[in-house]
Amino acid sequence: MGCGKLKRFLVMVLFIELLVCSVVSGIGVNWGTQATHPLPPSTVVKMLKDNGIQKVKLFDADSNILEALKKTQIQVMVGIPNDMLYTLANSVQAAEKWVSKNISAHISSGGVDIRYVAVGNEPFLSTYNGTFESTTLPALQNIQSALVKAGLGNRVKVTTPLNADVYQSSSDKPSDGDFRTDIHDLMIKIVSFLSQNNAPFTVNIYPFISLYADPNFPMDYAFFNGFSSAINDNGKIYDNVFDANHDTLVWALQKNGFGNLPIIVGEIGWPTDGDRNANLQYAQRFNQGFTSRYLGGKGTPMRPGPIDAYLFSLIDEDSKSIQPGNFERHWGLFYYDGKPKYQLSLGPTSPNGLVAASGVAYLPKKWCIMKPSANLNSDQVAPSVSYACQNADCTSLGYGTSCGNLDVQGNISYAFNSYFQVNDQMDSACKFPGLSVVTERDPSVGDCKFKIMIQTDSAVRIGSVRILLFVFLFLGIVL
Ligand SMILES: *[C@@H]1O[C@H](CO)[C@@H](O)[C@H](O)[C@H]1NC(C)=O
Ligand SMILES: *[C@@H]1O[C@H](CO)[C@@H](O)[C@H](O)[C@H]1NC(C)=O
Ligand SMILES: *[C@@H]1O[C@H](CO)[C@@H](O)[C@H](O)[C@H]1NC(C)=O
Repeated sequence: MGCGKLKRFLVMVLFIELLVCSVVSGIGVNWGTQATHPLPPSTVVKMLKDNGIQKVKLFDADSNILEALKKTQIQVMVGIPNDMLYTLANSVQAAEKWVSKNISAHISSGGVDIRYVAVGNEPFLSTYNGTFESTTLPALQNIQSALVKAGLGNRVKVTTPLNADVYQSSSDKPSDGDFRTDIHDLMIKIVSFLSQNNAPFTVNIYPFISLYADPNFPMDYAFFNGFSSAINDNGKIYDNVFDANHDTLVWALQKNGFGNLPIIVGEIGWPTDGDRNANLQYAQRFNQGFTSRYLGGKGTPMRPGPIDAYLFSLIDEDSKSIQPGNFERHWGLFYYDGKPKYQLSLGPTSPNGLVAASGVAYLPKKWCIMKPSANLNSDQVAPSVSYACQNADCTSLGYGTSCGNLDVQGNISYAFNSYFQVNDQMDSACKFPGLSVVTERDPSVGDCKFKIMIQTDSAVRIGSVRILLFVFLFLGIVL
């Protein structure tokens, strides 16, 4: 190829790339860290890049994570946990400090591409009994002023991710939508504040929860493959609950004079374990269905253009609260160790599905199980299993889950092993009185995987010290 031709070719490639990238920026992901053994931030950032993921949403301002996101061109939404709202609402100075330390410092020194601050996380969930109702708006206001004062007013927008029950419809039609009556006035104040500051409304929408909460919920309505009893709302057709839910919000905004407020879908996804409707097939069907529509720039009947959304979530988190349900620890597109769970195409950059995390270090191939000779009727069994499950993770046991078909011994072994792995395979973590033994034979059966934990940063460090010592000894002998 001559140089002129090459140049023309490169310009064309650049042009096509610009075209593809400007039509729809890739879908975002939520990166949560409530895990006993989180992958190192640098490993996760490499995994994001390998998968062409260009946007992440974080739940706090972890400096190690922000450090790892430096100079990656990945766009970031930084979160503020609910337990900081009170302080930030009541002190302008605290808000300024927060912005200076957790936003300005990363933007100026490292080139982290921070686009949004998410103030609080679903603060108006009814299970919080109104705890954060008086602090959310003042915290938003103080963070916004602090951003302006720091010269970041145009670059970083505030928002507050809200659960979808802040609005409702009196019928099954989106056009009957409005904000929940008990927080209606507060919602109008928040929405006007966002509007005045060119900030988006962020909402988390969960078709899985609709199905989980109501056994009569029509299965097909939760997905994106058509629904035989589609809802006709004055000519607009709804054949999936995501569209209907999203447009209930659009109507609520429109009715109150904010029909043009941008909307971000802060969380959307499907879990793979811990409930009979949480499995690999459904998660694949839902997430691919949503992502393909997203990449095709297809919005909802009320907002037909491209939408902005973040999948929930990137990686499983084995120490999340299971108060909402056992599925809560299984939302990841990836397992705890960065292995993809199923075939999912996130766009032209990953046509062949998800790419696993690289360089992940595991603990040795050892499991803790119930001793074959142990007495099932021992009165130590029940307290041992319950202790193990309370301090580790047994959410893959139970009706309809990946390990739901284990026999009683299998159940007990699963619990023991989970506790053993969470405690880094310490000898003392497989000492259930007269009941347990360590084995080197993988007890996994079929889809039911007995995990081996990964090395955490501290374990890796101990490992490298050992290697270093070895190298020194070796050098000593040679010299
Ligand atoms: C920065 O964010 C972290 C994590 O959310 C928090 O613990 C810390 O208090 C924040 N720093 C300031 C100065 O507010
Ligand atoms: C909310 O109220 C219920 C019932 O009174 C109580 O059990 C629960 O602990 C409360 N939750 C919070 C977060 O205050
Ligand atoms: C195994 O444990 C789960 C969860 O604790 C329980 O629901 C199930 O009935 C147990 N199965 C057997 C065979 O004991």
